[in-house]
Amino acid sequence: MTQRILLIVSGGIAAYKALELVRLLKGKGLAVRALLTDSATKFVTPLSFGVLTEDHVYGDMFDLKEEREIGHIQLSREADLIVVAPATANILAKMATGIADDLATTVLLATDKPVLAVPAMNVRMWHHKATQRNLVTLRADGIHILEPDVGAMACNEWGKGRLPEPAAIVQEIERLLVEAPQPAALLTDTSRTINAPDLSHANLIGRHVLVTAGPTHEPIDPVRYIANRSSGQQGFAIAAAAAQAGARVTLVSGPVSLPTPRGVTRVNVETAREMMAAVEAALPADVAIMVAAVADWRAADEAGQKLKKDGSGQPAPLALAENPDILASLARHAQRPGLLIGFAAETEKVVDHAVAKRSRKGADWIVANDVSGDVMGGHNNVVHLISEQAIESWPEMSKAAVAKRLIERVSGELASR
Ligand code: CTP
Repeated sequence: MTQRILLIVSGGIAAYKALELVRLLKGKGLAVRALLTDSATKFVTPLSFGVLTEDHVYGDMFDLKEEREIGHIQLSREADLIVVAPATANILAKMATGIADDLATTVLLATDKPVLAVPAMNVRMWHHKATQRNLVTLRADGIHILEPDVGAMACNEWGKGRLPEPAAIVQEIERLLVEAPQPAALLTDTSRTINAPDLSHANLIGRHVLVTAGPTHEPIDPVRYIANRSSGQQGFAIAAAAAQAGARVTLVSGPVSLPTPRGVTRVNVETAREMMAAVEAALPADVAIMVAAVADWRAADEAGQKLKKDGSGQPAPLALAENPDILASLARHAQRPGLLIGFAAETEKVVDHAVAKRSRKGADWIVANDVSGDVMGGHNNVVHLISEQAIESWPEMSKAAVAKRLIERVSGELASR
């Protein structure tokens, strides 16, 4: 079945690029229906969009004929994806606050379909605290944002705020259409959505879940570092499962080569201290799941230049310093997440060590992980879920299945509180 894009064009100088966008989307075999705000019609004409989309062009909510033939709800219902391009600072502000004072913003407030906003504006408007605040809100609400390009502006200034090239917008649209539609975090009544999230997870909708994943790299000198074998797969699978359950997910990741799961906000870090700072910056969170294999030690003094052999046959001394324990600090933090979960990578006496680790670090749960086999980098995992009250041993299963089951348990725990 042909997929349909509802393209909302708001009023900015970049509106003319939306015509090229329609042409490219049609070339991909997609159906495009255009909706122009009043101010967009000052920059581009509905006629041009009508010719290119081969469809009626929508604009004025109070056009009785339009509302009779196809109302604002219908416009949303018939779309697989809603794209706002260009999205002005003004329409982003309205979307973030839920203002619905014309057809475009009414559709955006009424929709339960995935929405991609492609901002374009003057560099100062982009960097304005109000716009940045609105973008945080929109992302938290599950709106996809394609960041603007940096370059020369129509107003003879230079900076971030240019509409990305139409081909780049098409690429993002194709990516979103391929992936299963993301439940918008703000939807609480999921009964009307076609792609409703699994209702057994309903307790996670809109909750903030913070996940750490991967190893950390601790530099010794500009070319060498201390690391471990963590691939990041388990943490990424947990972030993906939480996002699928409708949570707003922040994934703080050490250096790994894994794609960012859909709907997840990723913060890349390298060292344990950077991870600690990124975790604190992401607070508050309802749930924190610390899956990262944080290096316990770092070089006490990072050499500014590559360490050289001095000819004596003696290796250069390497003094170590202890890294902060992120999980333990979070347990004592003023903004301690309501549910704090750690992982315990163990090679022997897995449960005994993990039970002790849970109380030592002040976590609510510990997922004890037997890493004596090829778990680090492998696809399967054998874990035990340890709480104050119980120890549950799960059979060997894929890391994705562990993630799903853990998120189900998290959801159940939130429901019981
Ligand atoms: N962890 C952390 N910060 C550290 C070390 C570990 O947040 N500096 C977290 C891990 O993300 C994990 C849990 O603590 O959730 C346990 O990690 P693990 O490496 O098993 O524990 P260690 O503290 O390193 O204990 P040990 O080396 O004694 O096994």
